[in-house]
Amino acid sequence: MCGIIGIASNKSVSSNIIQALKKLEYRGYDSAGLSTIDNGEINEKKCSGRVNNLEKMLFQNPSNGTLGIGHVRWATHGIPNEVNAHPHSSEIVSVVHNGIIENSNFLKKELINKGHKFKSQTDTEVITLLLTDYLKKDNLIDAISKTLEKLEGSFALGIIFKEHKNLVVGARRGSPLAVGYGHNENYIGSDSYALKTMTNKISYLDDGDFCILTNDKIEFFNSKRKKINKEVSILSNDKNDSDKGDFKDFMSKEIDEQQITSKICIHEYIDKIRNDINFYNFSIDPKKIKKIRLIGCGTAFHSCLMARYWIEEITSIPVDSEIASEFRYRKIRFNKDELYIFVSQSGETADTFAALQMCKKNKASTCGIINVTESSIARLADFVLPIYAGPEIGVASTKAFIGQMIVLYLLSLKISNLRNEISKDDYLKKIKDLKNLPNLIKKTLSKQNEIQLIARDFINSKGAMFLGRGYSYPIAMEGALKLKELSYIHAEGYPAGEMKHGPLALIEDGIPVVILAPRDRYFEKTISNMQEVIARGGKVLLITDDDTEIISENIRFKFQIPKSNYQLNSFLMTIPLQLLAYHVALLKNCDIDKPRNLAKSVTVE
Ligand code: M6R
Repeated sequence: MCGIIGIASNKSVSSNIIQALKKLEYRGYDSAGLSTIDNGEINEKKCSGRVNNLEKMLFQNPSNGTLGIGHVRWATHGIPNEVNAHPHSSEIVSVVHNGIIENSNFLKKELINKGHKFKSQTDTEVITLLLTDYLKKDNLIDAISKTLEKLEGSFALGIIFKEHKNLVVGARRGSPLAVGYGHNENYIGSDSYALKTMTNKISYLDDGDFCILTNDKIEFFNSKRKKINKEVSILSNDKNDSDKGDFKDFMSKEIDEQQITSKICIHEYIDKIRNDINFYNFSIDPKKIKKIRLIGCGTAFHSCLMARYWIEEITSIPVDSEIASEFRYRKIRFNKDELYIFVSQSGETADTFAALQMCKKNKASTCGIINVTESSIARLADFVLPIYAGPEIGVASTKAFIGQMIVLYLLSLKISNLRNEISKDDYLKKIKDLKNLPNLIKKTLSKQNEIQLIARDFINSKGAMFLGRGYSYPIAMEGALKLKELSYIHAEGYPAGEMKHGPLALIEDGIPVVILAPRDRYFEKTISNMQEVIARGGKVLLITDDDTEIISENIRFKFQIPKSNYQLNSFLMTIPLQLLAYHVALLKNCDIDKPRNLAKSVTVE
């Protein structure tokens, strides 16, 4: 997964390309590059590492030109170095690519047999050389179409040509591509967020489409080379909060923002006067739902796991939570009256999107729980429930997780209410309790100092365990994911009751074990599991709302969350776990917002 940008203008484009690439770094940050048409020649510059390195390069040796393409990379084919960085150029064509060309080995052999030489280990270079080959005898449109027809896999492309000095070509299949309309310049970009500082007028390419932009015109074509028109959307003028303000990094800002984003989300969905939850346009009558399947990846999958407990408890609907990369390849028997819910912060995660496409093909009812409402998943799902978290820039998902859980919790309450499976009193009480959640989050965040001290105890450990039962189990999984992705400490999230079936063997003197044990119906059982860990030398951090003085003398740390409705404990226990991962990573000097080997939006399989 990578980020691409292309600009056709009547003034120099390199600085706008750099600014857009900085916004696209959430999609990949192991190398960066750009090409412009400078004095009639393709001028390609690229480097390993962040966009800052590319910017420094341009500072010393500027790239001129009124049209160009740029790229940030997350390596798939070939190590992240300068040669494999995009663009990939021949004498006459320069290409940036997001996606994977699955038949690249086959095409490579064909091209080598024709005498072409490859410089990189990437799959992308086949596109450059195919175009170069076709352009020997074909016109531009034919060369583009023939090249696209040869490619298998997924791609969003930006292309410039030595012989066509005023145009940029964009094309997509499987990977997203937005097209922006500016004043005397036009754009393509992996998402509208990257284009937002330049324009708020956007169209989207559909699978198989390509477009040709000059500074004053955009033409769209479908896969049959037929000219088509595109709907233009005007992006909302929401405050694009991509500034760290006084915070050290985006993650700490986003953790802190949860007291506000949770309030906004709740406010959006709860009708103050009627004290009811506003969900309209269900693609399926909630009374008729026979099964719900929740699908996501990573943190979004953990919110799916969480929702399963809620929906099963307050409705009679059977629920499955599915990892998208597994789900999309399983043989699913689609039945009428099933609802498929896709959870994704970015709305661009390739596996989640492919799973949604599979459901759409099978005419299933689909719903997206999404942060980026202009995203591919949001546009394809039958109905969308936004989470209103605002831009999440840190690679580690924090405020989006809380937002996803709020919407899923509200959804489970509403479905239960519409099916008459929850009493009016219980429904109103749960809504009232939820309205107090932002205050409780604020209270929990105010105890950050305690976690800062506890974090010191984790930094030298080789591994850590996170244990919980019932509602706490998905949160244990999420706590472990946060710790590993940020601090590179191996961590496992486990159902506490499963420890004795194997993982207990890992417990030795001094290993940190985080126990999530709020006073719910699992409390006593989890505390027994905790004692088993302590007896084997585990160093326990207990996170609970229990305020009795001593549960066990041998607990090393206890972090108390505020008391609330037991179903809200999951939200509150998440906060200390985010803070723990954050402070351990900070003490270990890790790159908080851009952990190694990762990217914010995973747009390849
Ligand atoms: O954009 P999505 O919510 O679809 O992303 C899914 C995962 O890639 C994401 O949650 C990932 O696991 C986070 N980096 C975890 O913090």
